[in-house]
Amino acid sequence: MSTLELRVTSPEAMRNLGCALGAVAQPGDRFLLEGPFGAGKTTFVQGLAVGLGVTSPVGSPSFVIETQYRGRLTLYHVDLYRLDRIEPALLEELEEHLFGDGVTAVEWAERLPPQVQEGATLLRFDVETETRRVHLSGEERFERAATDAL
Ligand SMILES: Nc1ncnc2c1ncn2[C@@H]1O[C@H](COP(=O)(O)OP(=O)(O)O)[C@@H](O)[C@H]1O
Ligand SMILES: [Mg+2]
Repeated sequence: MSTLELRVTSPEAMRNLGCALGAVAQPGDRFLLEGPFGAGKTTFVQGLAVGLGVTSPVGSPSFVIETQYRGRLTLYHVDLYRLDRIEPALLEELEEHLFGDGVTAVEWAERLPPQVQEGATLLRFDVETETRRVHLSGEERFERAATDAL
């Protein structure tokens, strides 16, 4: 799998990127989102939800690890920011969704164990003063959709 480097110049462009990937997402797709606070991960998931046909707004509520949204496919939005470590029981619950029929997007995915990374689409977000850089590695349908979206 190759890596595509994208320059995303606004929150709107970040949502467009997410939307484009959501539109071509299939059951079982996993998006692992890595990168620091403020890098645009939640903004990306807002677009992903739109692309999946979710009509309710996506936020990032405090003290919630996973939020579910109904769309063409169910979106599981996971945010591991508040966790120092992932207990085995929680990992088991997460894996039910990660390897289920919906689409999962995980913020702070670098905190997941390596067995979850295999076969997933990886997006690495980096902050630049006015923009964001996103490295995408995943299937060709995602690379194509991302290139067309920006
Ligand atoms: N490509 C972008 N360029 C500039 N600002 C962006 C971009 N993407 C997101 N932002 C802004 O950065 C801030 C943090 O975004 P957020 O998605 O909450 O980051 P994270 O979930 O990674 O902490 C928000 O104000 C958002 O509008
Ligand atoms: Mg966030």
